[in-house]
Amino acid sequence: MKLNWIERLFVTSPIRVLMQRMEIRWFKDKFPLDSGGEILEIGCGGGIGGGLILESFNPAQLYLSDLDIKMVKRARSYAGSRNLSNVHICQADATKLPYGDQKFDAVFGFGFLHHVPRWRTSLTDVARIIKPGGVYYLLEFYPQLYQNIITKHLIKHPEEDRFKSHDLRQALQDLSLNLIHSFEVKTMGIIGVAVKG
Ligand SMILES: C[S@@+](CC[C@H](N)C(=O)[O-])C[C@H]1O[C@@H](n2cnc3c(N)ncnc32)[C@H](O)[C@@H]1O
Repeated sequence: MKLNWIERLFVTSPIRVLMQRMEIRWFKDKFPLDSGGEILEIGCGGGIGGGLILESFNPAQLYLSDLDIKMVKRARSYAGSRNLSNVHICQADATKLPYGDQKFDAVFGFGFLHHVPRWRTSLTDVARIIKPGGVYYLLEFYPQLYQNIITKHLIKHPEEDRFKSHDLRQALQDLSLNLIHSFEVKTMGIIGVAVKG
């Protein structure tokens, strides 16, 4: 589901850039990767996170995708303005990712999954495209945060079948995405590193 204007404003703000820098530092501290592989960020928004991933993880090829064509255009213009030649950006629904099986060394998801109505289908697709031993770096939020009495009036999310901590952890485990590092606040969300078994 696309973001409403309030959330879009937030994810394209300088505050979000600072937060994302800290999140990427946390990911790298917990599980650094060798340079040179292939990395995908799903739900890339305006592309700033992609730039930070390039800086920190130095992949040979970086793929960015988002459902929202406005975000894809922003990400393309961001990458173009910085002459990023090894970046490939496309519009794609996270339930039907246009990539081959076991293609990626790592997939990043900064809060896209809780926007997807069929989140289990999407997570299955994430597991499909990661190589064995590859990594899913995730940041996700729970409905207690984004559907509470205040936030449900401000931001827009699917309402049915929302995952909480237990549901997400179980779904990861069922797909052999083994959560080896995590920091979680059960009423808010989780940041974690899952390695594909
Ligand atoms: C919370 S924003 C995160 C944006 C950016 N990655 C960041 O960390 O600031 C979630 C992003 O996921 C995208 N999104 C929502 N549903 C999606 C879907 N079904 N498939 C792919 N992307 C989706 C939204 O358009 C949005 O750009």
